[in-house]
Amino acid sequence: MKKEINLNMPSSSEGMSRIDGRLKVTGAAKYSAEYTVEGLTYGVLVGSTITKGTITAIDTKAAERAPGVIAVITHVNAIKVPGFQSEAGKPSAVRAQLKVFDDNKIVYNGQPVAVVIANTYERALYGASLVKTQYSKEQHETSLNASIGKGFPPHGDGLYKRGIQDAWKSAPYKVEQEYIVPTDTHNPMELHAIIAKWEADDKVTVWDKTQGVKATQHDIAQLFNIPVDNVQVNSKFVGGAFGSALRTWPHEVVALIAAKMVKRPVKLVLSRADMFTSVGHRPYTWQKIGIGATADGKLTGITHEAYGQTSTFENFTEGPVGVSQGLYACPNVNTKYNLVALNIGTPTWMRGPGEATGAFALESALDELSYLLKIDPIELRLRNYAETDPESGKPFSSKFLNEAYQMGADHIGWAERKPEPGTLKKDGLLVGYGIGCGMFGAYRSGATIKAKMTADGILLLQTAVSDIGPGTGTAMVLIAAEQMGIPAGNIRFENGASDLPQAPTQGGSATTASVGSAVHYACIELKEKFQKLTGNDSPKAIDYAQVLKQHNLPLLEVTTKSTAGDDRDKYAMNSWSVHFVKVLVNAATGVVKIDKVASVADSGHIISPKTARSQVVGGAIGGIGMALMEEAVMDHRYGRYINNNFADYHVAVNADIPQIDAQFVNKPDPYINPMGAKGMAEIALIGMAAAVANAVYNATGKRVRELPITPDKVMA
Ligand code: MOS
Repeated sequence: MKKEINLNMPSSSEGMSRIDGRLKVTGAAKYSAEYTVEGLTYGVLVGSTITKGTITAIDTKAAERAPGVIAVITHVNAIKVPGFQSEAGKPSAVRAQLKVFDDNKIVYNGQPVAVVIANTYERALYGASLVKTQYSKEQHETSLNASIGKGFPPHGDGLYKRGIQDAWKSAPYKVEQEYIVPTDTHNPMELHAIIAKWEADDKVTVWDKTQGVKATQHDIAQLFNIPVDNVQVNSKFVGGAFGSALRTWPHEVVALIAAKMVKRPVKLVLSRADMFTSVGHRPYTWQKIGIGATADGKLTGITHEAYGQTSTFENFTEGPVGVSQGLYACPNVNTKYNLVALNIGTPTWMRGPGEATGAFALESALDELSYLLKIDPIELRLRNYAETDPESGKPFSSKFLNEAYQMGADHIGWAERKPEPGTLKKDGLLVGYGIGCGMFGAYRSGATIKAKMTADGILLLQTAVSDIGPGTGTAMVLIAAEQMGIPAGNIRFENGASDLPQAPTQGGSATTASVGSAVHYACIELKEKFQKLTGNDSPKAIDYAQVLKQHNLPLLEVTTKSTAGDDRDKYAMNSWSVHFVKVLVNAATGVVKIDKVASVADSGHIISPKTARSQVVGGAIGGIGMALMEEAVMDHRYGRYINNNFADYHVAVNADIPQIDAQFVNKPDPYINPMGAKGMAEIALIGMAAAVANAVYNATGKRVRELPITPDKVMA
């Protein structure tokens, strides 16, 4: 017998390891595409090769005759999706989305025009190569810069005003600059995939990559006009998503249509190339910031404009200008947010979403101002520290960002930084230090937990929530262990299925606050049930298994719902972060090497130190990728991404990443939830790209305002 090593036991200094870590590293964790069901067939998409126009003819005969092909489905023969047919009363996700196979219109390159269903994946792939489509092309628009004059506000006038308009212009010290964040794609390791199996005409089961099984369940019910309870969505493991699985996409609808038509289950796995066109991206965003200050560094005005991409059929909105409204105490702030509709797939939230895009601009502009004022960038931030929420005037539920500045400065060795760019050298390389801050709303929504203690002393926690990798299950087990006073090893967490109790979509850094609160209260309720049984309300540990045996009970269970909490109207609730970066730059080649990162999060009480650390490390890595290498490059002549693969779309890999020093202020927020924990996913990335850009400037005197900071831009 091989010795069993329990990787899940707490280790004193670092905290408990992931409860699903062993399953993931041994390959035992089963992802959506890895399931098999009886009679399974395989679908491969055919994407449009034009970017705008109409399909004039589609020849499927050769594909239909190919070995193993069961069906070729196009707009010509596809069944009608009921949810596409009438606009009224449909939730926005269903109303606005691409009506796949509904007509012959092409609105972006790669848009599905056909799906080939065969008895093996390879035969479907071959069949897909035989579909011949003819188009009538129209002039497409894919460049935001070229179409910026067609920008429109997504809601109202898209404007925010506080105090005097454009007050920065009359400041003695001012900076006005433009910043560009390009299209980035989420590119999780796991490809998006779905298996759709109709159990009856109005009843379906899917194994699907989704960050929200309940949201997907409701979307499918709406789309196919069937009862919600007749839709079962399973998403037991998700191999990363970063936002790409926050909504229902066309390929999911295609699989559902196809499975209905061939009357067999269909598995549809996107190709890596499809991942660039069909499951969203961080929208290319042009921003302009005007920022002004007095000689002693008091901000007098910020003007922040942002124009972000969207598709022609759906408005995707996010919050790039929010950081300028809330990160610093500044009496005069006005912002403008516009969208530009282009012939692209709809963008979606990606890693820190709009706040990360906005923080790149604001935190770069503030850095530029610090050099103009000759004030240390940390000192400049402290002089404009917001003690209360600048937007609402409300007190913060908690804010320890000033402590985070100090911790990070100590860890990076900020004292070594030279205020004059290009003056610090080591081994022939230029050395620079940079800082960037982040803020993100600390959200919490309702969630329900079923907690069941059985006579073997094992506690089972059940809830629908997806766990896309941050370690949600691990954190939930730790919350329950503390409340119940039992070892974490005696607790199981079951999640990722729509027939489990209600939980929110995993996104917006809100899962621990939302689902964790439900775990907390469920455990209290369950403990009370035991105490009632024993007539003992003393705080001493209960031997749950013993009590159940004594009372001849197989189990005790509770189902507990937690709501958002009501202090939200009294306090402004945010998480905060600061990132410090030390870079080494080769002046001859323009290559930037990250030498050190120190990221500090003010995200309330840290429940699971080990997975929290991983989250901050992951955010820093994503931020380094965003800063130095990530960009989906489009050839606007064809409306096509030219680096739609992992060889050409560069993400930060091991060689790009130094040791990352992840720190936490770790002080509980007294209001947000009973654990005092605030979200920490998005803030792990927000501000990071600016920290890199600011470090590059400090090293070289070269200010790069368009990401990514590739060597050509540093040399230029
Ligand atoms: Mo996140 S961008 O809320 O998945």
